[in-house]
Amino acid sequence: MTNFRLATFTLLTATTLTLAACSPQSSKTSPTQASGAEASVATAVIPTERFFTADQFTYANYQDIVVKHAALDLTVDFDRKVLDGAVTIRFERLKPDVQTLTLDTKDLTIKAVELKTDQGWTPATYAMGEADTVLGSAMNITVGAEATQVKITYETSPKAEGLQWLSPEQTAGKKKPYLFSQAQALYARTMLPVQDTPAVRMTYEASLRVPEGLLPLMSASQDGQDADGNWTFSMPQPIPSYLIAIAVGDIKFKAINDTIGVYAEDYILEASAEEFAQTPEMEVANTELYGPYRWGRYDLLVLPPSFPFGGMENPRLSFMTPTLIAGDKSLTNVVAHELAHSWSGNLVTNSNWRDAWLNEGFTSYVENRVMEDLYGEGRAVMEQSLDMEGLKRAISEAKRPELTQLKLPDDMAHPDDAFTLVSYIKGANFLFFLEDRFGREAFDPFLKSYFNAYAFQSVTTEDFLAFMDANIRVDFPDAVTDAEIREWVYGQGLPATARNPQSDAFDKVAAASALWVSGDITAAELPSTDWSTHEWLQFLNGLPALTPAQMTELDETYNLTGTQNAETAFAWYMQAIKNGYAPAMPALEEFLMSVGRGKFIYRLYGALKDNGQADMAGRIFAKAKAGYHPIAQRRIDDILAK
Ligand code: BES
Ligand code: ZN
Repeated sequence: MTNFRLATFTLLTATTLTLAACSPQSSKTSPTQASGAEASVATAVIPTERFFTADQFTYANYQDIVVKHAALDLTVDFDRKVLDGAVTIRFERLKPDVQTLTLDTKDLTIKAVELKTDQGWTPATYAMGEADTVLGSAMNITVGAEATQVKITYETSPKAEGLQWLSPEQTAGKKKPYLFSQAQALYARTMLPVQDTPAVRMTYEASLRVPEGLLPLMSASQDGQDADGNWTFSMPQPIPSYLIAIAVGDIKFKAINDTIGVYAEDYILEASAEEFAQTPEMEVANTELYGPYRWGRYDLLVLPPSFPFGGMENPRLSFMTPTLIAGDKSLTNVVAHELAHSWSGNLVTNSNWRDAWLNEGFTSYVENRVMEDLYGEGRAVMEQSLDMEGLKRAISEAKRPELTQLKLPDDMAHPDDAFTLVSYIKGANFLFFLEDRFGREAFDPFLKSYFNAYAFQSVTTEDFLAFMDANIRVDFPDAVTDAEIREWVYGQGLPATARNPQSDAFDKVAAASALWVSGDITAAELPSTDWSTHEWLQFLNGLPALTPAQMTELDETYNLTGTQNAETAFAWYMQAIKNGYAPAMPALEEFLMSVGRGKFIYRLYGALKDNGQADMAGRIFAKAKAGYHPIAQRRIDDILAK
């Protein structure tokens, strides 16, 4: 036994249980889910001591009293750009003498607060705290000693950061408006009063009134329209607030199989179903590795281009950027990623944003395992390699060295600081490291038992480490040392024990690139006929400073300016900006006007600014801003102001 603090449990203080008996199953299971359910029989040692890390981004007194269920009853008012209605919240006291329920709110108008008593709904006393620009306002409701339900009548603000209201002109169809939400990390509180911390999980239901001819969707089961024409939804599995989601628009559906399908505006529906046709195989791969998919259906919603992320893992309904629809399935790792969150993130959730790597690092790892399963090791390693380059850049650009730790510091300024490639790729690489040391044969069932042991719970880094000590390090005591683990989790930068992805395909790209850069071959002689998007990205990202003649030669040979693959376009425009290649600028401007995905536009605006083009950046942003999501608007304001 080691003296590493987290390794000091003994079997006497741990509970052994059979997981098959304690895994809640959704009543709706697909044929693909059955095999995983059978395979999930395993035993795990669950450490009795749980580790707590406070969530400094919530006002909620969630250690005293917790929300268990929220019932939303809302009108989606496109004219006023508000959600207007009420939420009824059921809560449970963890400490008997608690009299106040504190919720998070931001920019909400509270109209009435009532408690359920023997006499029916009666007005309650409440007080709103001062508004903080990041956290919003605490809502302190006096709930007394008895009540277990509070009903809050409220409406959202037209400038709610979690909601983007698109005019008909901003949609592809141009006829009907569109609304979509984005709650992660701190924006659920702009949609409803809620304990807005991933430490708290609740079930929810909703009844929505939307204008005729529009389809509402939520991160929940859509249970049809009631007698009054209200659309009803239910989410029977307990989820954290950041997974509450809504979208309303002229949205159509196309099935991929019985339990998986795609929602999108008409113009892109067929192409999306084709691009994402392998989602069922991904679900099978995931299930075989890590146990059953527990959420019933899995659908993908392809949003308008202003959606600020590549994807968002809203349960049962991942939200996806249309920039993934490349026509050749080259960007489907984002589907693998969001689907993987159905295990890492949604099933087992980081209990605060300092542990975001438990969501994003695990998910990036699982994503890559699934990509390997579907497309082979070659593509998986190329993706690891591109990611590793990104991680090195992220580490070198970190605002503070503490932000390169997996366990993030307690004075992290904003959860945004947790969503850098450190959480994603350093996190994934910690798991690659562990996989290499323990071997897949042991590591795969171990991870599966982790997802089962903490299913529908929120955990910390230390909980994971203790679980690892109890369930795999005991069997392989020499595989990894405490010091190695400590360096990965609490240390800064990239540990020397990181796996070094070796891609033969990329080595060939690098060799050919060197020949072209030095003038030994022409651009047309590059062996690019069979290059995948990944090889193009490797080529473009790896280029040194080029002359105008070289940029022109590349562009004329391969028509890179205006390319339809968004990842390739982004990589090319970054080179165009760095090399001052003017002919690409109109196409770059068009890209910035039509795409709102943060991964692309933040760096493009930043690069323009850093390369003496601040005026151009400001001019384009002034035109594009109204079409961007509120989250993106604020980020770019910051980038250009610095
Ligand atoms: N959960 C994230 C998106 C997110 C992060 C939203 C932080 C809000 C705050 C999602 O799962 C994600 O990681 N998306 C990536 C895709 C990926 C393949 C790395 C993205 O949007 O690019
Ligand atoms: Zn993710």
